[in-house]
Amino acid sequence: MFGVCYYPEHWPESQWDQDAKMMAELGLTYVRIGEFAWSRIEPNPGEYTFDWLDTAIATLNSAGLKVVMCTPTATPPKWLIDSYPEILPVDPETGQTRGFGSRRHYDFSSAVYLRESLRITEVLARRYGDQDGVVGWQTDNELCCHDTALSGSKVAQQAFQDWCRQRYADINQLNTDWGNVFWSMEYRDFREIDLPILAVTETNPAHRLAYRRFSSDQVVNYHNPMVEVIRHYAPGKFITHNFIPMNETAVDNFALAAPLDLASYDNYPLGRTDLLLTGAPTEELRRYMRTGHPDFATYYHDQTRGLLNRGFWVMEQQPGPVNWANNNPRPAPGMIRFWTLEAFAHGADCVCYFRWRQAPFAQEQMHAGLLRPDNSKTEAWPEAEQAMAEVALLDIENKPLQAAPVAIVTGVEGQWVSDIEEQGEAYDFNNVQLSYYSALRELGVNVDFIAVDGDFSPYKLIIAPSLPIISDSFIEKCKASTAQFIFGPRAGAKTPEFSYPTNLPPGLLQKLIPIRVLSVETLRADCHEGLSWNNHQYQSGSWCEQLDAGDTEIVARYDNAEPAIVRKDRFTYIGTLTNKEFLRDFFHQQCLDAQIKTYHFGEDIRVSQRGNLLFAFNYSDQSQSLPLDPAAKLLLGNKTIEPHGVTVWQAP
Ligand code: GAL
Repeated sequence: MFGVCYYPEHWPESQWDQDAKMMAELGLTYVRIGEFAWSRIEPNPGEYTFDWLDTAIATLNSAGLKVVMCTPTATPPKWLIDSYPEILPVDPETGQTRGFGSRRHYDFSSAVYLRESLRITEVLARRYGDQDGVVGWQTDNELCCHDTALSGSKVAQQAFQDWCRQRYADINQLNTDWGNVFWSMEYRDFREIDLPILAVTETNPAHRLAYRRFSSDQVVNYHNPMVEVIRHYAPGKFITHNFIPMNETAVDNFALAAPLDLASYDNYPLGRTDLLLTGAPTEELRRYMRTGHPDFATYYHDQTRGLLNRGFWVMEQQPGPVNWANNNPRPAPGMIRFWTLEAFAHGADCVCYFRWRQAPFAQEQMHAGLLRPDNSKTEAWPEAEQAMAEVALLDIENKPLQAAPVAIVTGVEGQWVSDIEEQGEAYDFNNVQLSYYSALRELGVNVDFIAVDGDFSPYKLIIAPSLPIISDSFIEKCKASTAQFIFGPRAGAKTPEFSYPTNLPPGLLQKLIPIRVLSVETLRADCHEGLSWNNHQYQSGSWCEQLDAGDTEIVARYDNAEPAIVRKDRFTYIGTLTNKEFLRDFFHQQCLDAQIKTYHFGEDIRVSQRGNLLFAFNYSDQSQSLPLDPAAKLLLGNKTIEPHGVTVWQAP
């Protein structure tokens, strides 16, 4: 299924009918509306103007389109902010109040804003909840985008103090858990607690971890009641949210997704590639600047699918140049169709393009749409048409999602620990996790992302790239599973209150792998050293743990012959950050051992499976011959895959 993001309030009413007809002609099913329209829905306090929205919905419905209604809480209007300036959040980096004039200018700890958000949500849900033509709801927009998870406000501080009282009950307990005797940081009362911001030098990591946990809880506590209200007035309608990845917001997306029916993701492969490859060598960026990096889109598709372990939506799909990266190239010809098929291959149930028509005014006037402001069709239009025909031809939507053979265990705590305690500049949670994911994807292996308390039973191989905080129940789950496990460096390295385990890292993981981390050294990335495995030399260096290997099997060694990777029964521990070649070769061997089929077709080809369909996606601008079985039944494309092309064949 397909859809589009539409803002009727941006266009004269006389245009809506033609828009709706064109959407239907294109073959779209869903239209998402209402997202930022608070000032039009409630121009003055308590004065609601629904006529225009009623007409817009009726116009879309009469063209056969189904509406996904959004709550407009990402953009509180001016009158509301002027009445209650305490809604505005405070930037924790500068201590400055963030102003009105863009979006997301609200504090998750503001009781006033929660009340107002519930009010506008209820007003909308009451009016449209039971309308047949409004089939689903999206809450807010990209919660915590633009670095808004944390606030340094007074209301946040008070809420944090209450949260601490709830968690620790006794102030002495908090002092002990955080180690506040260090640098005379002890508190006598919960009301004395500051936020860990704007201090002279670094604040206590335990304090910062608590602030992250609290801030994540605040987002969930703000969001849940909104979902309840919609659920109440719109029974039977789906409720979703378009998530920003957990590594960017540092919010627990598993918790945030829990009350929803489906998770959505906004897919902007070129914007993300430009931002994530900012420091990369020129050649690497140039290679992917018009296609997106081969793993960036699916990395987030797979994570979004994992939030509820079911099909997801791409709520916004980049249709052309965007306006918000450092540089905003045009996609290579064919990429809109390519990204669309890729999303479906990774479990999307619906792809919606952002946006219907480029707005000639305001912040996003340089952002492409399916139409230009003069109503002419952009290149995205025929590509979307092609993708729709191909999705239908392949019947992808009816291909069931199966569990992948490999799971990556993920969670927000790894991100928190890596943000709070860098220790070496090369250790970044997301880079570590992405490098593991990329290595698996280069092998053409489907990957699921699961939470620490997720279901381990379907997997043959479970990999935890960065799991610094481990619980007893996690250890028990690992023991109960029959999978092979691989842990990346830093596993079990912190207690739940951010201290060093006194039995030494990997802490509780010693119950599975009886080793001790004697020290950690970090080196500048360009000062790497060697790692020898399987008679080959690879890299180590930017993060190296000195291991007391106990009675474990030594799998790989550093240059000085000390153990770098060890194994005990089904459990492998990697004590170092290493390079892509190593991860790929090592995981390849693990897949062979676990009888997991791989498709290693080269650096720029990715193979994905959905149901009985196997897809190859060619990210390079060169055609390439795919080493398929001569009996393979081709369903789309050719054995010689075209530049930026897609080939689909039937799984044996
Ligand atoms: C998304 C956002 C949209 C729009 C878009 C532009 O992150 O949800 O409202 O701003 O980016 O690419």
